[in-house]
Amino acid sequence: MEVRAALTTRRSIRAFLDRPVPREAVVAILEAARWSPSWGNTQPWELAVVGGDTLKRLTAAMADRFARQVPPAPDVPMPETFPDEYRARYMACAAGLFGTMGIAREDRERRRAHLLHMTRAYGAPTVIYVLFRGDLPVPYTMFDLGAITHALCLAAHAQGLGTCIEAQLAHYPDLVREHLGLDPTHRVVVGIALGYPDPAAPANAFRTTREPLETFVRFIDG
Ligand SMILES: Cc1cc2nc3c(=O)[nH]c(=O)nc-3n(C[C@H](O)[C@H](O)[C@H](O)COP(=O)(O)O)c2cc1C
Repeated sequence: MEVRAALTTRRSIRAFLDRPVPREAVVAILEAARWSPSWGNTQPWELAVVGGDTLKRLTAAMADRFARQVPPAPDVPMPETFPDEYRARYMACAAGLFGTMGIAREDRERRRAHLLHMTRAYGAPTVIYVLFRGDLPVPYTMFDLGAITHALCLAAHAQGLGTCIEAQLAHYPDLVREHLGLDPTHRVVVGIALGYPDPAAPANAFRTTREPLETFVRFIDG
């Protein structure tokens, strides 16, 4: 797949087929994504590819906490507010997704069920956790982790796999560390749900928009 096509046709996938992702496919994605750029080539990322019973146990534990309404305690604080124009985009994204899924604004039960499904990685057979060591400088490490996260999604898409980057999968990082046997100093940023997209799922028909160039680019060449 051409880079331009991969960039413009990738989208978040929120329903997956009950079909495992072969190890070779995951390795091919990782082999491509490891060429991502980073500050001084420090490559500050660590990745954990999780599947099988471990993923089942982890998502069950996270879903249990979600159901008990335990407040999230992410390692990387979630944004609580956005300036108005960004908040409007965020709201439009949520409204568009729920609209495509046929979930009404006031239908709290189905909205909550959607969040629970999100907590279960949307049923993906594999999750790639994006991690870093707590003694790394956070702001530029985030930049580098963002680069490899996008590369992983593009590489997966190029081989017919779907992904959804999920902050939701990092809401309870202590559970991630416990179930994955990580060091206490590991920080959890996001989990990337990975699997074969379910073509029949309404959620997967949702397509976000993007702002036109003139809203965020300035050319200065005089
Ligand atoms: C850091 C980050 C965290 C995200 N967390 C979630 C999440 O928890 N649940 C979810 O459904 N989508 C999540 N997304 C996906 C975004 O909603 C999605 O990328 C955005 O709406 C653009 O849509 P697209 O990926 O289909 O182009 C996240 C994306 C990023 C970059």
